[in-house]
Amino acid sequence: MHFPLTSYYIPYTLATLVPLVYAQTIGNVSPWPPGPGSSLVPQAPNSELTQILNEIDPSRIQATIQKLVSFGTRHTLSNQTDPVRGIGAARDWIASQMRTFAAASNGRMTVSVPSYIQQPVNGLVLQPTNISNIVATLTGTSEPNRVYVVSGHYDSRVTSILNFMDDAPGADDDASGVAVSMELARVMASHQSAATIMFAVVAGEEQDLFGSNFMATTLKQQGKDVQGMLNNDIVGSSTADDGTVDPNDIRMFVSGLPPSNTAAQNLNLASIGGENDSPAHQLGRFVAEVSQNTVTQMNVRAIYRPDRFLRGGDHESFLAQGFPAVRFTEPHENFAHQHQDVRVSNGVQFGDLIQFVDFNFTARVAKVNGAALWSLAQAPGTPKNVKIDTSVLTNNSTLSWTLDPKADAGYEVVWRETDEPQWSMVIPVGIVNSVTVNLSKDNVQMGVRAVGKNGFKSPAALPMPS
Ligand SMILES: *[C@@H]1O[C@H](CO)[C@@H](O)[C@H](O)[C@H]1NC(C)=O
Ligand SMILES: *[C@@H]1O[C@H](CO)[C@@H](O)[C@H](O)[C@H]1NC(C)=O
Ligand SMILES: *[C@@H]1O[C@H](CO)[C@@H](O)[C@H](O)[C@H]1NC(C)=O
Ligand SMILES: *[C@@H]1O[C@H](CO)[C@@H](O)[C@H](O)[C@H]1NC(C)=O
Ligand SMILES: *[C@@H]1O[C@H](CO)[C@@H](O)[C@H](O)[C@H]1NC(C)=O
Ligand SMILES: *[C@@H]1O[C@H](CO)[C@@H](O)[C@H](O)[C@H]1NC(C)=O
Ligand SMILES: [Zn+2]
Repeated sequence: MHFPLTSYYIPYTLATLVPLVYAQTIGNVSPWPPGPGSSLVPQAPNSELTQILNEIDPSRIQATIQKLVSFGTRHTLSNQTDPVRGIGAARDWIASQMRTFAAASNGRMTVSVPSYIQQPVNGLVLQPTNISNIVATLTGTSEPNRVYVVSGHYDSRVTSILNFMDDAPGADDDASGVAVSMELARVMASHQSAATIMFAVVAGEEQDLFGSNFMATTLKQQGKDVQGMLNNDIVGSSTADDGTVDPNDIRMFVSGLPPSNTAAQNLNLASIGGENDSPAHQLGRFVAEVSQNTVTQMNVRAIYRPDRFLRGGDHESFLAQGFPAVRFTEPHENFAHQHQDVRVSNGVQFGDLIQFVDFNFTARVAKVNGAALWSLAQAPGTPKNVKIDTSVLTNNSTLSWTLDPKADAGYEVVWRETDEPQWSMVIPVGIVNSVTVNLSKDNVQMGVRAVGKNGFKSPAALPMPS
């Protein structure tokens, strides 16, 4: 049975009248043949999360994008010391705003501007260049080393990748993504999170993902347990050039085989039909589960590829380090508004101008990110060392994993038909580190997720042959 796509496209107004429609989207699949458990009902935002999401303010997002555009250009090679024009002025303003947000955190949120000097790269970087990220870190009160990242890039460009002089407003690409990171930092600063959340704004994306690569490699070197990264790049418009508007849809790009895997690891994964069950896929399933509801008013369209053709983004820096990551991008891109000199040609306005940004839409994308980030960071971590016993031929499946004391309400085995995109069935199994379920591993896909007493449930992990 295939995913009931049609229910994903029910407009939110109808969903508001019939709130169960989202539950049915994921839970109404009749397994064939029948098997154990009950239909999975998506996790709904609790009252604290609902309050956080309702504080996301389109007018703050508008003000952020307006300010970023006012720096003229934010090209990575533009002036770093001029107080009003160029990437340096933008960097300092973003950092000062983040510090203002952190002031409401009672010391839980700190702001840093990590940097390195990028050496020249033929055709991309003309001279040694300071690449600076801005990172607001809301340190987890219970598991500070478990980290989730939301990111957008503040550098911008025009037609020539080396043109650092002309105006490059970058309103959609990617002041919109920066506004998502900053607005989430603002609304979450006054809350306590169990795991750590990093609100990142990075540079050098247009040249070669420099800032995100620096951030991801630093986190890897520091031994941080990064269990999810959400990249927002071009999330400012829901309107196609033919006028079609999809105000309640966002695309989410989900990579398959992890680029950090060895060829042997990928063969192993593919040999058990695990190519749609990488950690990035489980993160994508989790985002789809927790972020499509009447509070976000959004549908998430998962697309199973790392990025659009001919394009890339900062999530790939995290995937390269073995961290699960996905990319959000608006439903209809207008290429006349991206990477273009600002000009009018044959009556057509080119350029990444703020007049093409829909702040209400960007605010809803921020809610999708907020629902996912907050739910990830309050749930126990994704179960580790999840194995499936393949020592004997049996119709049952024996799963095992490492017990995590933070999974204080136990574990759930989730399963689905192998060709369904979302988990459809759930079997609560309690506080155990091994279970045998009356379900043949030959016929379905299974996962294990951890449950907290606070009601939050982790992404699932695919069991690998022991
Ligand atoms: C950057 O701007 C400052 C202040 O306007 C100016 O003094 C400096 O020469 C500029 N640097 C470059 C490399 O253009
Ligand atoms: C990059 O610029 C920032 C801001 O001026 C500065 O604090 C930092 O030391 C510079 N980084 C390097 C590696 O020089
Ligand atoms: C944004 O949302 C507000 C509140 O719902 C509404 O009043 C306003 O017209 C919307 N703006 C646009 C441009 O759609
Ligand atoms: C396994 O299931 C098949 C039917 O799917 C049945 O014929 C067989 O007897 C079962 N084997 C055991 C050991 O229960
Ligand atoms: C399969 O699991 C069921 C339920 O735990 C158990 O009753 C049965 O004996 C098991 N069958 C096999 C073949 O392991
Ligand atoms: C195991 O599942 C099969 C097929 O769904 C069912 O016929 C059988 O009764 C189940 N066995 C147990 C012990 O639940
Ligand atoms: Zn971009």
